[in-house]
Amino acid sequence: MAPDKHSPIGIIDSGMGGISIWTEIIRAMPHEDVVYWADSANCPYGGRTKREIVSLVEVGVETLMRKGVKIIVIACNTATTAAIGTLREQWPEMPFVGLEPAVKPAAQSTRSGVIGVLGTAYTVNSEMFRHTAEKYASHIQVIATAGNGLVEQVENGRENAPETEILLRRYIEPMLAAGADRLVLACTHYPLLVEPIRRIIGDREMEIVNPAPAIARHTLELLRERGLLTDRTKQGEHDFLSSGTEHDIRQLRTRAEQYRNKLNETENREQK
Ligand code: DGL
Repeated sequence: MAPDKHSPIGIIDSGMGGISIWTEIIRAMPHEDVVYWADSANCPYGGRTKREIVSLVEVGVETLMRKGVKIIVIACNTATTAAIGTLREQWPEMPFVGLEPAVKPAAQSTRSGVIGVLGTAYTVNSEMFRHTAEKYASHIQVIATAGNGLVEQVENGRENAPETEILLRRYIEPMLAAGADRLVLACTHYPLLVEPIRRIIGDREMEIVNPAPAIARHTLELLRERGLLTDRTKQGEHDFLSSGTEHDIRQLRTRAEQYRNKLNETENREQK
């Protein structure tokens, strides 16, 4: 059966990172059903080859298509960089939303003329990233750093562990020392590290650029254009699937709810 407006939205990531996108999607579209696929058994993707990543993401896409999804959000910069072209060719009927490092808004808003970009080794060393940086940021200095080890820390629930902060410090301090006033989070796992990142920045002037809310808005617009937004008024259902174990699925659900609650609390506090 072809997907219709009541079909679910599909989200893919190598693991927990897509939670940062999932949260914004369900906040923007609370009545939509959402199915999340985490390739926990093969995470991280960041050190893999293009060929490996493409075939892993294809498995995720096929799994979500069997669930009848109406759109697929590739909630992973690495997977987007490696596979989005192939996916669009292979499934021309399926709308895909991809994630590219948010260099453009950072380059437009920087005052110091220096921005930092933190992504996986695959993303920051890719041709796609070089093009994006050339297109939007040739007039400024871009410090792109591979956040090796960070995805593993998030997967293991060690966001606030001392060794995570040591890693983050190693990547972010040189950006700050060079005068960067924007930090682009170019891996969807990194918004889950926003607390230690804020601790490192302290009172220095550096704004964190997280593309998740913009991706959710873009997904909503795409669905609206295609007449694919649900008109149901009940709360949407949230399904989690993983190539890993039952434990991975439980973890995913718990961490997703925790992240969503934390984000809501922070916003409520800021509004008061
Ligand atoms: N969340 C993925 C990204 O945005 C993590 C990649 C990985 O598994 O290394 O790049």
